[in-house]
Formats: sequence, structure tokens, C-alpha cells
Amino acid sequence: MTTDHYRRFLAYGRRYVWPTFVLALLFNVGYGASTGVVPLLIRYLFDDVLPAGDRQRLYLAPVVIVLVIAVRALCQFLGSYLTETVGQSITADLRGELAQRVLDLPQSYINRHPSTVLVSRVLTDVTLAKTGIVDGVSTVLKDGITLAALVVVAFYQDWLLSLIAFFLFPLGVWPVLRTAKKVRRHSRQGQTRLAQLAAYLQESLLGARVVKIFGMQAYELERFQRENRSVRHQALRTTRAKLINQPLMELLGAVGFCAVLVYGGEAVMGGSRTTGSFFAFLTSLYLCYAPFKGLGKANATLQQGVAAAEELFAILDTPADPVEAAAPQSLQALHQGLRAEAVEFGYDPGDPVIRGLDLVIPRGSTVALVGPSGGGKSTIIDLFCRFYDPSAGRISIDGIDLRDLSLASLRRLIALVDQNTFLFNDTIANNIAYGQGSEGRVSRAAIEAAARAANAHGFIRELPEGYDTLIGENGTLLSGGQRQRLAIARALIKNAPILFLDEATSALDSASEQVVQEALDRLMANRTTLVVAHRLSTVVNADRIVVIEAGRVLESGRHEELLARGGLYADLVSTQFATAVAAPPA
Ligand SMILES: Nc1ncnc2c1ncn2[C@@H]1O[C@H](COP(=O)(O)OP(=O)(O)OP(=O)(O)O)[C@@H](O)[C@H]1O
Ligand SMILES: [Mg+2]
Repeated sequence: MTTDHYRRFLAYGRRYVWPTFVLALLFNVGYGASTGVVPLLIRYLFDDVLPAGDRQRLYLAPVVIVLVIAVRALCQFLGSYLTETVGQSITADLRGELAQRVLDLPQSYINRHPSTVLVSRVLTDVTLAKTGIVDGVSTVLKDGITLAALVVVAFYQDWLLSLIAFFLFPLGVWPVLRTAKKVRRHSRQGQTRLAQLAAYLQESLLGARVVKIFGMQAYELERFQRENRSVRHQALRTTRAKLINQPLMELLGAVGFCAVLVYGGEAVMGGSRTTGSFFAFLTSLYLCYAPFKGLGKANATLQQGVAAAEELFAILDTPADPVEAAAPQSLQALHQGLRAEAVEFGYDPGDPVIRGLDLVIPRGSTVALVGPSGGGKSTIIDLFCRFYDPSAGRISIDGIDLRDLSLASLRRLIALVDQNTFLFNDTIANNIAYGQGSEGRVSRAAIEAAARAANAHGFIRELPEGYDTLIGENGTLLSGGQRQRLAIARALIKNAPILFLDEATSALDSASEQVVQEALDRLMANRTTLVVAHRLSTVVNADRIVVIEAGRVLESGRHEELLARGGLYADLVSTQFATAVAAPPA
């Protein structure tokens, strides 16, 4: 399982193997080799140069040593830099792939995973996976090669001493492997907590007005601090598991070193070994220490990276829903209309929201959905947009099942003005032109025309920078009515044959209502419209009114017919629309 994730992550590096990674490898070999040369030089100095009293070679030796160290430093720089290049490239690729996946994550997945948590997870996990896996591999390479070179040199000097010294090394590896699993588990928990922390902070900002009016700053802070404390706790646990390796290894290293010291010193005194070879041997042991320590640490870093990679792959592997048909059809225009037949749907299995819904929307007509809150009106629109697939029944456009239609083609036919208008933190012009290709594809004149038709031109012109005014996150710098009119302009410019309109429930005052209503009338003209109506004016003008209750059609007909029936619609009109009836729309 773990090795699979590990392999899968490394597969992203395939594109960078040649030449970057190969060069990185070569420089690492150069680094290892030049490290291995140092003890050999020392031995030569002690055993050959000093006894011969050769001053010329004595002064040459330091020059050679400095040169070797310089080569080693260069190899280290280039090797590490190239490895990092590969790491950053893999990271960028992975971030790109994740962004692409996030853009078409199933609605059902988005509903269940808070966006704030998702965002911070993706960003921190990518970094952790990169640090863990790439740095882990790079250390294994650099330190592994260096260690191999030094071990060869040490054995070449004295195989018996080497055996004594290196017998203790494998003992040091054992606790390292044992802690690996712990590190992975703690690290994963820590990441989840950290994401939660980011989510709290972001929610406090998004909901700043609610927090303030309810005086909940202290509560929010406490909620944050509780998580904050567990992040600290979790991080320390990870660190403890990681840190326990190092002292253990150091201790074992010291024992090995002392054993070598006594045994080797005895040999030098007994004359069976030269001082030079003993010194050289000690130097190789000393040089072994850093890469050995590095390898021990690398394992923990790797585990952390693998844990993060696991989370990322879980997002990447989220199955598509709805699934695009194998050979999807494409529709250029609407000829007959829309239809729902015996549609069943629920957000959660066993909890139906839409039950046996039949609905026909002939081309060019306006059908209004009314009914009690929570009855499923917005859900019906979502089903027609194919944000979800029905669990039974069939939804079709011009007789073609939505499931056989390409998603892009379906959505080209639809303009949607939502119950909660979403606007981007961009200029007014770009918000209106959203979806009309990259900037510049739509002329300023077309944008203005749409704004005029949406009764938005007036207020836009009065803004300090007109159409270039930035409107803030989700349009916070605008009023509710202004936001709605921008959404209408955005739908107008799309000029799609089908319009889904989920009217905002929040009542506007009658002056703004009229301004918005005018804009809506222009938007609905010559389109096939399904409108969730909260305004009597919209309802009265509809070709057909469908009353939805508990996910099914309760009654349907024209305004007068339904009033005469004295059913739920008549009740709704007398209560919900009471104020509007008292002052009938113009
Ligand atoms: N994303 C969701 N996940 C789970 N349940 C949901 C989701 N969205 C809506 N529901 C549930 O589905 C039911 C229908 O909701 P829907 O939004 O379609 O009602 P509505 O008729 O549009 O109501 P309103 O008039 O208040 O806008 C409700 O019981 C609601 O709790
Ligand atoms: Mg709704």
C-alpha cells in the first residue's frame, strides 16, 4: 500500500529523469567519491610523505585536499540543486493535476468536504509530499552513495576494523525502522488538524458579520485554540518519534567508535598497523557519521511524505460523478423542450428528496415552481443541470437523456441564476463576461449592453472605476440587489436557450424589486425558463405553475385555475404572497 503511493508519486518524476535527474545522480556520485578520497589522502600523508621527510609533497598535499573539497562542494551544490529542480517540477505538476481535479469534483463530494479544509489540505499536503519524498530520495541518494564510498575505503584500509565498526551500524537501523510507522500516523493526524485550523480561521473571516453581531469572538477563539493546542501536541508527537532515532544512533556510533579506538590503538602500539592507516580509518568513520545520520532522518521525512501523498491520491482518485457518456451526443439548440419522467433522487441513500417527479417544459414556455421551503425546488434545477444524476427515472432535453449528452454541450444550453448568486473577486466587467472565453473575446460594448438590459449600467457607471471596479470576495462590495443584477447580466450575455432561475428568497423593497423584475423579464424573453418563484409577479406571468411539495408535483395549472381549486397554491398566495397581492405588481 505504502510502496504503491511511493511509486506512484515517483512516477511523476519520469519526465525529469533525463537529463536533470541523471545529472543530479552523477554529481551525487562525484560528491560521494570525493568524500571517499579524503581518508586516502590522509593515509598517504602520514605513511608516505611524513616518514620520507618530503617537504615538497607536504606542501602539495593541502592544495590537493582543498581542491578535492572544492570539487566536493561543487558536486554538492549542483547535485542538491538539480534534485530540488526535479522536486519542484513534480510538485508543480501535482498541484496542477489537483487543481484540475478540484475543478470537476462531484457536487456530492464538495457538499461533504468543507472547501476551506480541502484547500489547505491540498496546499500543505503537496508541500509535505514533496519535502518528504523528494528530499527523502535525495538524501538517500547523496548520503547512500557517500556512505557506500566510505565503507569501501574503510574496508580497503582494514577489513577487520571495518567489521567491528559496521557491525554496530545495522543495530542502529532497527529502531529507525520501528519508529517509521509511528511518524506516519502522527503526521497524518497532524495534517488533518492543521487543515481544520485553517478552516476555522477562514470561516471566522467569511462569517465575520455573524460572529460580531452574536458577540462570538471569544467562542471562535476558544474553538481555534483548542485545535491549535492539539496541532501543537500532534506536532510534538511527530517530532518525538522522529528525534528518538538520532540519539540512539549516536550512542551506538560512539560505542563503535570507542571499540575501534581501543582495538586500533592497540594495533598501532604493537606495531602491526601504521599510524597513517589508523588515522585514515578514523577519518572515514568520522565522515560516515553525517551521511548515516542523514539516512536515519530521511526515513522519517519519507514517512511524512508518503502520508501526505496518500491523502492527495485519495482526492485524485475520487470517482467522477456524474459520469460523462462513452460516446456523448451534442446539442446545438433546443427544439422541443425539457422533460422529467418519474424522477427519484436523494442526497443520501434512503432519504429521498425528489419522489416520482414528472415535469414537462415545452420550448419557449415559462414554468414556475412554487411550494414550501425544503420541498425540493432547487434540487430539481440541480438535476436539470446534471449536477447530480437521478437514482431512478429520466431527465431529457429534446428527447435525449441527459446522461447521453456531453456535459459541456448540456451546460452551453443553460444559463443559471442561482438562489445564492456567486460572484468572483474580479472586476465588474470580468464578472459579467464570465464564461465568454478569455478576456478580450467579449467587447466592452456587449458587456455594457448586457448590463443595461439587466438594469445594472446605472449603478456601475457611478462606481469609482466603473466596469473596472473590483467587487471583493463574492461581491461583498455590492448591495444584494446589485449582485443579483450582475448575475442577470452574466446570464444575459451567455444568451443560452434554457434559463434556470432560482429567485432569491430575500425580499427586495418594491423599487428594487421592480428594477430586478424588469431585468428578469428581459432575461426570460424568448427563452425556455424554469423559475423557482418567490415573487407573485413572476408566478402570475408564467405559462404554467407547478406546486412542489415533499419532492413531488402536488398540483399544476395557470394562476386562475389553481386559485379556483383552493388547494395549496391558493393558500400560498393568500399567505406567502400576501403583501405582493395587496400591492399588485406593475
Ligand atoms: N447538498 C445537500 N445535501 C443534502 N441535502 C440537501 C442538500 N441540498 C438540499 N438538501 C435537502 O433537500 C431538500 C430539498 O432542498 P431544496 O434546496 O431543493 O429545497 P427548496 O424547495 O429549494 O427550498 P427553498 O424554497 O427553501 O429554497 C431539503 O430537505 C434539504 O434539506
Ligand atoms: Mg431553494
